[in-house]
This record gives sequence, C-alpha cells and structure tokens, in this order.
Amino acid sequence: MRIAIAGATGTVGAHTVRFAAAAGHDVLQLARSNGVDLLTGRGLDLEGVDVVIDVSGPRGGTSSKQFFASATEQLLSAEARCGVAHHIALSIVGAAKAPFGYYGGKALQEQLVTEAAVPWTILRATQFFEFAEQNVKKIGRFAIAPKMLSQPLAATAVADALVSLAEGHAAGIVDDLAGPEVMRIADVARAISQARGEHPRILEVPLPGGFGRALRDGSILPSGQPKIMGPSLEQWLAESRR
Ligand SMILES: NC(=O)c1ccc[n+]([C@@H]2O[C@H](COP(=O)([O-])OP(=O)(O)OC[C@H]3O[C@@H](n4cnc5c(N)ncnc54)[C@H](OP(=O)(O)O)[C@@H]3O)[C@@H](O)[C@H]2O)c1
Repeated sequence: MRIAIAGATGTVGAHTVRFAAAAGHDVLQLARSNGVDLLTGRGLDLEGVDVVIDVSGPRGGTSSKQFFASATEQLLSAEARCGVAHHIALSIVGAAKAPFGYYGGKALQEQLVTEAAVPWTILRATQFFEFAEQNVKKIGRFAIAPKMLSQPLAATAVADALVSLAEGHAAGIVDDLAGPEVMRIADVARAISQARGEHPRILEVPLPGGFGRALRDGSILPSGQPKIMGPSLEQWLAESRR
C-alpha cells in the first residue's frame, strides 16, 4: 500500500514513517523539509497514494486554526483530485469538548474531515509523554508546567495504532487512545527530568480561562471506553535509557 504521511518529520510522524516502512508499505513523506508546504499546497502530489495519515501540526508563527484549516483543506482537495481512498487524521482527546486555543484548530480539523468526500477515520489520542517535556519552560533551576490532568501515552503507541488503521477501512471516529495511567503533566515532566539526571524544581501553573479549567478539571480526559496502549511512563523511561 502507498501511504502518504503529512507531518512525516514530527514527533509522531517520524515513528509512523518507520512503522509503515517496516510493515512493507511504500511511504511518501510530506513536510516542508521534503519540499511540501501544506499551507499553500506547494509540492503536494498524491498520485498513486492509497491512504493519507495526517500527523502534521503548526510550527513557527501560524495559529492552530489557520494551520489546521489550510493544511486539512489542501490535503482533502489533493486527495479528491488523485482518488485517495482513505484520509486518517490524528486529533486530540477533548478537542471537541474544549475547542479553545490550540484545541480550537483541532476541533476545526475534525469538522472539515467529517464533511469531506474522501472516506475518513479520526483517531483522538491523549498527550504524548514527549508533550510534557515540550511544554515545560525552564528558567534557571526552576521549570514551569501547565496544571493539567492527562492519561498520556508514548508517541510510538500512537504511530503503531495509525499504521493499523491505515491497513483497514475508513471507520469514522474510532475509540479514544490513551496510556495506562491518569497523571499530572507536571509529574510526567518531573519523572522525565529525574531520569535524565536533571533536577529542576517544577512548578505547576494554572492556565487562564475555559481552556485552563478544562485542562485542570479532567474534562479533557478520555470518555467512554478508551483503547489503552502501553508502555507505561516507567517502561518508556526504561526503554529510552537503553
Ligand atoms: N503532542 C501531543 O501530545 C499530541 C497528542 C494528540 C494529538 N496530537 C496531534 O498530533 C499531530 C502531530 O503532533 P507532533 O507533536 O508529532 O507534531 P510536531 O512534532 O510539531 O510535527 C509537526 C509536523 O508537521 C510538519 N509541518 C509543519 N508545518 C508544515 C507545513 N506548512 N507544511 C508541511 N508540513 C508542515 C512538520 O515538518 P516541517 O517543519 O519539516 O514542515 C512536522 O513534520 C498534531 O496534529 C497534534 O495536534 C499531538
């Protein structure tokens, strides 16, 4: 199967490329570093592609809504032109329930995909373990993390699930995907820092407004019966040390 991966060089994208290639698929990598700009459609050619997995995300100054509106529309129109049979979008658990800030762009992406002519699947995942590290701001011996509850998981688990979905048929919105434990993002960041031999004092800061409240009060945790995928944080840290 020929699978195009939008956001192929990103945190989850790089694992998705590796897993899809290891499963014997022909992989087309879409990212600016591969000559494709999803905001303008420059270099985007999906001729012969069976499935698109979209794990792209804004980098630099583009706002979440601007990015996901343009990138999703560019991908969906190129797919319709080239007869792509299946579009898979990676979204975030809770985006539709708390469509503020970054999540506003993800909610818009979901809406555009559900209205598309191309058969589609949306996988909503919780935060990657790597997210905790990326969202900690270090200031000398201190670090600041958002006050947030999550059921985080490894980006490799998400990549694995995406490749399995690409091998099946379009399935609409599938079960939420989450890790084994509900945790505070600050505790995930503390565990990662300790495992690296760094010991910054990590302070939890509540974010303002409705979005901050949703992050703190558990309303963006998975609902219903999520699909749980390991490794646990402890196993993931042990694997990263090897
Ligand atoms: N982080 C989390 O915890 C989490 C949880 C659930 C879902 N998600 C979703 O998963 C997706 C991937 O997240 P991530 O953290 O892996 O993202 P990431 O590491 O920031 O990677 C973003 C990817 O998008 C590409 N990209 C950015 N602007 C582009 C453009 N104009 N044209 C083409 N490609 C562009 C980047 O490549 P270039 O810079 O080379 O163009 C890169 O490959 C996002 O949609 C995010 O919302 C994330």
